[in-house]
Amino acid sequence: MEQSVDTKYTLTDEGFKELRDVIYKTSGIYYSESKKYLLESRILKRIQSLKLNSLYDYVNYIKNPGNKGELRNLFDAITINETYFFRAEQQFEALEKIIIPELIKDKSKDSPSVVIRIWSAACSTGEEPYTIAMIILEKIKPIFPNCQFQILGSDISTQVLEVAKSGVYKEYSVRNMPEYYLKKYFIVKDGAYFLKDEVKRLVRFSNINLFDANQVRMVSNCDVIFCANVLIYFDIPAKQKVVSYLYDALNPGGYLFIGYSESLHGISKAFKLVHLPKAIAYKKE
Ligand SMILES: C[S@@+](CC[C@H](N)C(=O)[O-])C[C@H]1O[C@@H](n2cnc3c(N)ncnc32)[C@H](O)[C@@H]1O
Repeated sequence: MEQSVDTKYTLTDEGFKELRDVIYKTSGIYYSESKKYLLESRILKRIQSLKLNSLYDYVNYIKNPGNKGELRNLFDAITINETYFFRAEQQFEALEKIIIPELIKDKSKDSPSVVIRIWSAACSTGEEPYTIAMIILEKIKPIFPNCQFQILGSDISTQVLEVAKSGVYKEYSVRNMPEYYLKKYFIVKDGAYFLKDEVKRLVRFSNINLFDANQVRMVSNCDVIFCANVLIYFDIPAKQKVVSYLYDALNPGGYLFIGYSESLHGISKAFKLVHLPKAIAYKKE
């Protein structure tokens, strides 16, 4: 029998739970019952692309181990990728004025050639790691010309990483950008903002699912990790798991920054909470 339009594009409670479980088990992202409608609307384009008949068919499709490759499209469809340049201004200021100088001072006690590793975990379209790269070029390199910087940007969504690698942005992304940086590091053409190569080459991008221990293990010895505005999508056990992986990826003395609205209260006691003049950070001692 033909399904009615209503049942084609909505999920039963059962179907919703099955899909939610797949998403949770693979990514840590947790959809509560109140987000059922949001999830349905985000999956619609997948059933159209796959030429499936209903959301119910999609649930069966994604549960089939033979269709594991679809997970990548599922992550593209369900993630919220909001970001922009200079979003966490106060954290970047603390990075520039306090944290990097402190790390360089400590590291240069052991070796004259200092390398600082910064990871923007869940970087979406790349604005966060590129902001860090511009600050390094502009403010840090003139004072510490011999210090090397390695910046990694990663995300679970491959689609956003393609944008990040292209370095081409819309007005929306640069809306909070100081005029000086905009003029110096972008070429504006036909309403698009092209990031210059001198910034692009400082950042490497990689597809990393923070909920997957094997993937996170590929990153180690970080001095600073930015993991902002992603823990909000996880439930408490998932946050605990991801934060413990980030802890392992940090060097002793390294710092973790999370989003302004986020906290590690009830999630991890492993870090020392550090109050910087305008921001807070979590330090691995
Ligand atoms: C709202 S954006 C935050 C971007 C940036 N950190 C910022 O604060 O502006 C959240 C990003 O987290 C990513 N994300 C969600 N779950 C993830 C996971 N399990 N592993 C890695 N990235 C994930 C999404 O794809 C999305 O791009």
